[in-house]
Amino acid sequence: MEKNEELLADFPKTWILEDGTKVTVRPMVKQDRDRVALFFKRIGEDELCFLKDNVTDIRVIDRWIERLDYDRVLPLVADINGRIVADASLHRRKEGWRRHLGGVRVVVDPAFRHKGLASKLIDELTAVARKEGLDRLYAEIPADDQAAINVFQDRGFTRVALFEGDIIDRAGKYHDMAVYHLELTERR
Ligand SMILES: CC(C)(COP(=O)(O)OP(=O)(O)OC[C@H]1O[C@@H](n2cnc3c(N)ncnc32)[C@H](O)[C@@H]1OP(=O)(O)O)[C@@H](O)C(=O)NCCC(=O)NCCS
Repeated sequence: MEKNEELLADFPKTWILEDGTKVTVRPMVKQDRDRVALFFKRIGEDELCFLKDNVTDIRVIDRWIERLDYDRVLPLVADINGRIVADASLHRRKEGWRRHLGGVRVVVDPAFRHKGLASKLIDELTAVARKEGLDRLYAEIPADDQAAINVFQDRGFTRVALFEGDIIDRAGKYHDMAVYHLELTERR
């Protein structure tokens, strides 16, 4: 079995959230394009500035979908009867000096928050990263995104750096960017 297939063999997974909600978790596929676009439409303007990419631009989603390569970016979606309620991704470089690192991002539909979904998705991606032999996970989070900071800290991530003004939002406002790490091995 190829590495990619082996990774995919674990999915789909069915999870029961803290309030009993049943979700299916699986890698994003090409057919998800419109559902992913709809998902990001449900994220408020005030939170779009917390996301790295301009997800309101369908060309951004198209680029993700066209270039799906799970060894580079593994996007997991949580699906409830065809409605995508969360997107969490593990970002990797196949080559070069950052090939031992994995970046993690997560967004949850406002109607499905506080049910432990982001936490479970981060744990799932952490398990994938361990399986893949990565040394460390990182998350780049706007320093004023307290919800995300709490979630990542709860999962064991710790702040290792703060870059002043490294983020500029859609309105042109500057934000500090905090970097969080989770060590997966003691190799270093
Ligand atoms: C951050 C985010 C992903 C959290 O999703 P979620 O599914 O609600 O998170 P969980 O239910 O797993 O929350 C786990 C813990 O995080 C903390 N937390 C979650 N939302 C919070 C909030 N709005 N304020 C403060 N703490 C919060 C709590 O400690 C929570 O534990 P509790 O439920 O026992 O109180 C979600 O708010 C979101 O999508 N925000 C916009 C996008 C974003 O900021 N992404 C991060 C960039 S990497």
